[in-house]
Amino acid sequence: MKEVPASGAFRQLEPGPIVLVTTSYRGKPNIMTMGFHMMIQHAPPLIGCVIGPWDHSYSALRATGECVIAIPTIDLAETVVDIGNCSGDTVDKFERFGLTQQPAGSVAAPLIKECLANIECRVVDVVEHHSLFILEAERLWIDNDHREWRTLHHRGDGVFAADGNVLDLCDRMVKWRHFPR
Ligand SMILES: Cc1cc2nc3c(=O)[nH]c(=O)nc-3n(C[C@H](O)[C@H](O)[C@H](O)COP(=O)(O)O)c2cc1C
Repeated sequence: MKEVPASGAFRQLEPGPIVLVTTSYRGKPNIMTMGFHMMIQHAPPLIGCVIGPWDHSYSALRATGECVIAIPTIDLAETVVDIGNCSGDTVDKFERFGLTQQPAGSVAAPLIKECLANIECRVVDVVEHHSLFILEAERLWIDNDHREWRTLHHRGDGVFAADGNVLDLCDRMVKWRHFPR
């Protein structure tokens, strides 16, 4: 093993799926790209995510307490990067990127039709000095007819790995049978 600076630790842990976060602020829907997120708790399901105060989405989330986390697949790769390189302050991203809003069940933020899954979330806590939002996932929508299933995993600086082989080791998970699949 060769020791490298600890500042690179996040590169080892970040590669969950890159996601899109939608908000709706003063009637205006918006989208941002987000790589810094993690599961915190199973029930109720809690998700932690870091959204910087320089983002339009930060103000929207602080003001409304609601968002949708949408999971894009590899066919949306370029769009995902471009969404994360412009601001809802000046751009209508749904229009610019040709994405389709669908009404959510419990929050004003829209689902994204072109994504594999959409999670409706409500802010339950904020760790202000880290811009860390604790979100409770209230509803989950999955597109079972989605043609593409490979999600993207950000390695940093616009480089991604796409999902590859699936290893199903479910039989060995003897201690965790009570969790839903
Ligand atoms: C691959 C990628 C990952 C990103 N991850 C995050 C993140 O986890 N948190 C964050 O605050 N911004 C992240 N960004 C930057 C925001 O998406 C970017 O600042 C965006 O322009 C914010 O849009 P908004 O101003 O409309 O909210 C990421 C951008 C890219 C391209």
